[in-house]
Amino acid sequence: MSMPFDKSITKEDPYKLCFVCLGNICRSPTAEGVFQHLVNERGLDGYFYIDSAGTGAYHVGEGANSKSQKTANEYGIELKSRARKFEPEDLREFDLILAMDHENFDNLQKLDVRDEYSGKLFLMREFDPQPETKAVPDPYYGGIDGFKHVFDIVYRSCEGLLDKLEKQIEG
Ligand code: 4NP
Repeated sequence: MSMPFDKSITKEDPYKLCFVCLGNICRSPTAEGVFQHLVNERGLDGYFYIDSAGTGAYHVGEGANSKSQKTANEYGIELKSRARKFEPEDLREFDLILAMDHENFDNLQKLDVRDEYSGKLFLMREFDPQPETKAVPDPYYGGIDGFKHVFDIVYRSCEGLLDKLEKQIEG
C-alpha cells in the first residue's frame, strides 16, 4: 500500500479522501464542502475525489444539518452530501480517511480487523495549525455558535491538509 503522503497525485489517478464523523450530517459534510471549495479556489479540480461518511447509521439518506448549511453558506459554500454509513470496504477504497474525533477514530480502527489500513487513518485536527485539542467537537445538541466553531476548526484543518497534499500533485 502506498502511504498517503508519498503518493503522487494526478488527474488520471485522483486522490481519494473520506471525512468521517458520527452522523455524517454536521462535521464531515462541512469538511467535504470546505475541502472541495479550497480545491476549486486553488484551481485543483480533478485531482481529488472527496467524500464523507458516518460511523453511525442514524441519519442515512439525510442532507446536511440546517445549522451546518447556514454556517457554510455564509462563506459561500454549499453542503451537498447525503448521509451514508462508513463501510469496511471504504478502508481499501480511500487514500486518506480523516476522523473528526477519537470515538470516530476508534470505530474506524475496529473496522480494520486485520490492521491493514492504519497508515490511512488520521484525526482531522492533526492538520489544524491551532489544535487546542485533537477533536472536532460534536455540535449536534448545541446552538449555532458551536457550528461556527466547528466550521472554523474544519476550515483551518482543510487548509493545512491541502497545503500538505498540494506538494504531491504531479510529484
Ligand atoms: P456529526 O453530528 O457526527 O457531526 O454529523 C452528529 C449528528 C447526529 C448525532 C450525533 C452527532 N446523533 O446522535 O444523532
